[in-house]
Amino acid sequence: MTALLPASRTADVPPTTGTAQAVRLDGIERSFALAQGRREVLRGIDLDIAAGEIVAVVGPSGCGKSTLLRLVGGLDNPTRGSISIDGTTVAAADERTAVAFQEPRLLPWRTLAQNVELGLPRGTARRPGRERVEELLHLVGLAHAADQRPREVSGGMAQRASLARALARNPSVLLLDEPFGALDALTRLRMHDLLLKIHAAEPTTVLLVTHDVEEALYLADRVLLLRTLGDDAHPSIARTIDVPGIRPRDRADRGLADLRADLLEGLGVDTHHRITEENR
Ligand SMILES: Nc1ncnc2c1ncn2[C@@H]1O[C@H](COP(=O)(O)OP(=O)(O)OP(=O)(O)O)[C@@H](O)[C@H]1O
Ligand SMILES: [Mg+2]
Repeated sequence: MTALLPASRTADVPPTTGTAQAVRLDGIERSFALAQGRREVLRGIDLDIAAGEIVAVVGPSGCGKSTLLRLVGGLDNPTRGSISIDGTTVAAADERTAVAFQEPRLLPWRTLAQNVELGLPRGTARRPGRERVEELLHLVGLAHAADQRPREVSGGMAQRASLARALARNPSVLLLDEPFGALDALTRLRMHDLLLKIHAAEPTTVLLVTHDVEEALYLADRVLLLRTLGDDAHPSIARTIDVPGIRPRDRADRGLADLRADLLEGLGVDTHHRITEENR
């Protein structure tokens, strides 16, 4: 692992980086009480995520992707079933996890460095803390913008600061809820490669919710397609796709294009029709 650590890590900085840990979901159900009755959102989720694996979750709006992420982070409790990280049940706001959202959610009156600092584990001593913040800003390409405030930087920069703040917790499990959804297409592509760089430098297991099928296939070892539950007894996970090929992958790869068509079809997008239209 040492070889993968950023070059800026020095001998006098304690090894603050966490280790990637396995996640296990067992018979997960989540339903919410409504004015009349209950609404079942997640059902029958059994899932083993290996330490260091990147798993993407796609599915129609409202199918429960964010709910699933919140459950793994201990921000919500399942109605039934259990979730564990490294064999231990997830606690409320489990400190082994960190979450980044579509909006960076930075404090506007603090600099980027101060925002990242907020992610450090409680009780981190001043000097190692400062060095860790510097290291993370460097990792996400923001060393030059440490003293700028969120309103002075681009959306992509703010989102990188948000990722660095999440990493400052040294999470074993990084939970990303459409982290690149609000960015322009080019910035998004750059962020994909940044996420792979982060994943190589900071050992974490990653659960990535996304609307972007190509993003899922470029980044993930496995893609889960969730369905919106109906009155039948189908479980939430409609399909699981193992994505072949080591990263970084070729975005133009033929095999990935086939998987993309598969996934889009699973999401109810008629790709066949589009292709035949184009071929006319
Ligand atoms: N605390 C809550 N109380 C009641 N219903 C909830 C609660 N949280 C989520 N829901 C419902 O659960 C369903 C799934 O919500 P969730 O936010 O997980 O969907 P999603 O797949 O992330 O959607 P999107 O792609 O739009 O972000 C929605 O119908 C939502 O209204
Ligand atoms: Mg959501």
